[in-house]
Amino acid sequence: MSADAEYIYKEALARIEKADAEGLRGAEVEYLGRKGKLTQLLRTLGELPAAKRAPAGKRLNEIKVELEDAVAARKTQLGGEDSVGWVDMTEPPPAKFRQPIGHIHPVSQVLEDIENVFLSMGFEIIDGPEVETDWYNFEALNIPPQHPARDMQDTFYLEGGQVLRTHTSPMQIRYATDHKPPIRIIAPGKVYRSENEDASHSWSFHQVEGLVVDTDTTLTDLHGTLLAMMRGTLGDKTEVRLRPSFFPYTEPSVEMDATCPRCGGSGCVVCAGTGWLEMGGAGMVHPRVLRNVGLDPEKYQGFAFGFGPERIAMIKYDITDVRDFWRPRISFLEQF
Ligand code: DAH
Repeated sequence: MSADAEYIYKEALARIEKADAEGLRGAEVEYLGRKGKLTQLLRTLGELPAAKRAPAGKRLNEIKVELEDAVAARKTQLGGEDSVGWVDMTEPPPAKFRQPIGHIHPVSQVLEDIENVFLSMGFEIIDGPEVETDWYNFEALNIPPQHPARDMQDTFYLEGGQVLRTHTSPMQIRYATDHKPPIRIIAPGKVYRSENEDASHSWSFHQVEGLVVDTDTTLTDLHGTLLAMMRGTLGDKTEVRLRPSFFPYTEPSVEMDATCPRCGGSGCVVCAGTGWLEMGGAGMVHPRVLRNVGLDPEKYQGFAFGFGPERIAMIKYDITDVRDFWRPRISFLEQF
C-alpha cells in the first residue's frame, strides 16, 4: 500500500505540474476527487493491521495536502480563478507567515512609568554595577562589619570580599561621591539576595533607588516625591502615608505605604483589609552618610528612598507569584 501511495503521489505531482487548465481539472478529479485514486487508498486504510494504520494514514494525509497545494500553485501559475492579480500590502498575512512580535515585560512597563514620573520632575536616571564592594554596599551606608543591620539582607559574598549588591542604595554613594548638590537621581536595577525562592521571594529582583540632596530638603519634599511616584504608577487617586522605621543610612527613617488600588483604601483581600500596601523604605539621609561622600551635613540635607517595581507590577496586574516574572513562559507574559 505504501508503495502504491508513493507511486500515485509522484505520478500525480508530475501531471499537475505540467497540466494546462483543463488537464489540471482532470488530474484533480482523478486523484483527489470523491472516487479519485488517493481517496480510494484512504478508504482501504481500515483493512490494514492496526500497527500499520496510523503511519500509513499520516503519510496519505501528507500526500493529500501536498497535492492540494500543488493544484493551487499550478492554478495560480496558469492565471486561473485563484490567481493573484494584485497584492493588498495592508492586509495581515495568513497566520503561518506571521512573525511573532515581542512586547514589553510587565516589570519593564512599571519601570518605564516610574522613570517617566521622575524625568518629568527633573531627575537623572543612572546605572551602576551589580558586583559591589563592601564599602559601597554596606560601610558607606553606615552598616559596619559585624553590625546586626547586615542581617536585614542575606548576602551573596564573592571571592575577594566583593558582594552581589543586595540593594540599589550603593548608587547613592557612588553618585554623591563625585557630584556636587543639587542632586536628583534615581537608580533602577537588579539586586541579589541569598533567599530561598517562594511565591513572594526571589534571589534576584529589581529596585529603584532615589536620592535628593540640596540645601533645604525636608521630609515634606520626600512625601510629595513619593506621592507623585505612586500616583504615576498606581493611579491619580493614590494616597501615601509614612510610618516610622529604621534604616542605618537614614534618620529619621520611614516605611512608605500607598492606598490599595483595588479597593481605593476601604479594605479588601489584596491589602488584607487594611486599605494600605507597604511599598518601600525611605528617610532623610543620615549625617554620617553625607560625611562619607564628602558633604557637610550642616550645609546639606537630603532624602533617599528605595522600592521594588515587581511589587508594583504584582499589585497592578494581579500577579500572585514573583517567580512568574523570571520564567520564560510566553503564554503568561503575553497577558500584560
Ligand atoms: N535599601 C533598602 C532595602 O533594600 C530600601 C531603602 C530604605 C532605600 C530606605 C533607601 C532608604 O534609600 O532611604 O530594603
